[in-house]
Amino acid sequence: MSEPRRILTVFGTRPEAIKLFPLLHALQGDARFVSRVCVSAQHRGMLDQVLAISGIVPHHDLDLMQPDQTLDGLTANLLTGLGRVMDEETPDWVVVQGDTATAMAGALAAYYRKIPVAHVEAGLRSGNIHHPWPEEVNRKIIGTIAALHCAPTETAAAALRRENVDPTAVHVTGNTVIDALHWITARIAEERELAAGLAELEQRFAGKRIVGVTSHRRENFGEGMQSIAAAIRRLAARDDVAIVFPVHLNPNVRQVMDAELAGLDNVALIEPLDYPHFARLLDICTLMLTDSGGVQEEAPALGKPVLVMRETTERPEGVEAGTAKLVGTDADRIVAEAERLLDDEAAYAAMARAHNPFGDGKTAARIMELLAG
Ligand code: UD1
Ligand code: UDP
Repeated sequence: MSEPRRILTVFGTRPEAIKLFPLLHALQGDARFVSRVCVSAQHRGMLDQVLAISGIVPHHDLDLMQPDQTLDGLTANLLTGLGRVMDEETPDWVVVQGDTATAMAGALAAYYRKIPVAHVEAGLRSGNIHHPWPEEVNRKIIGTIAALHCAPTETAAAALRRENVDPTAVHVTGNTVIDALHWITARIAEERELAAGLAELEQRFAGKRIVGVTSHRRENFGEGMQSIAAAIRRLAARDDVAIVFPVHLNPNVRQVMDAELAGLDNVALIEPLDYPHFARLLDICTLMLTDSGGVQEEAPALGKPVLVMRETTERPEGVEAGTAKLVGTDADRIVAEAERLLDDEAAYAAMARAHNPFGDGKTAARIMELLAG
């Protein structure tokens, strides 16, 4: 039998960890591979929450997060730190996911060493390099470098082919986010306590409809965040609604939300939820307001309407399927669209249908076979 392939998987944030743990679980159990893991820890607490629940123990932890870090400072540290790990590990493949600074720098450091890069969640494009910022450019850089492009959907694969990426290197695999959602749902079914921590809130808000909120996009900092906060304040004035808002640890998000929303009766501003508790929130909410990428993929799979607080999306599939709607960050528009869903049963029913444009939960196995091939 030939030597096992050495795979170095590199990531640094909460969503990358969620979307990579299914692949890491698969690689760990397969003798064709030696799976090594390097976290940049571009996120700290929010990354550690996912490592803990998924049982992933990194071989390298660069512990790079700084409070309110800048894009250039972070990227410089990533490039040198990840490069050192690659020199030590000499992998056959470097795997990166999505569009974060860690993913982009990981791809670049691998390219500098002529190590082939596999890109998980390849081909997402909004067509606007300022929305989302800086993710659109990060993805394009990775797309230029990667030797294997694992596109979640045919739309994403087509975007890569339009950019003249070698079509034989592009594969439609689905998105591992669905694998992760299935895994966590099964874990919660085995051990209910894992997601029992919202019980107090559920009791406090009994009889009200829960609107889940997440927000963190850099391009929304400042005016956009203020406007999102104003919309939530107005929605929370309704006595049939409660807002559950796990606030991202980025200080640019927290300062605004604390200043505008702390202490309101119908608003629970809470710490980031670990993944099982966030899955529970998706389960109990009536609708989600979000600017998150991952939540736009999870909510349609669960049939939860999502109002996407962005100007553009690189995930048109949820919108096309009818479960997601782009509403931007204008407060009047957010409130009007949310109230329409809350007050018009037919409008709600039209959006609240489960769709799975992002895969069947078997994406990790497909990617593993591509890495073996
Ligand atoms: C990053 C990614 C973004 C991704 C998002 C997911 C980049 C440029 N941005 O954005 O693409 O959608 O993660 O959440 O790669 N912080 C903590 N603890 C944590 C995490 C963050 O305190 O566990 C605070 C720190 O002050 C940190 C700041 O948040 O400096 C920003 O973190 P950073 O990773 O740079 O950006 P995000 O906005 O989280
Ligand atoms: N998530 C979580 N806890 C939270 C908020 C989100 O576990 O309090 C999960 C969510 O289920 C999704 C992912 O984090 O899988 C999305 O991460 P985020 O919104 O930070 O990043 P994005 O997807 O926008 O890059």
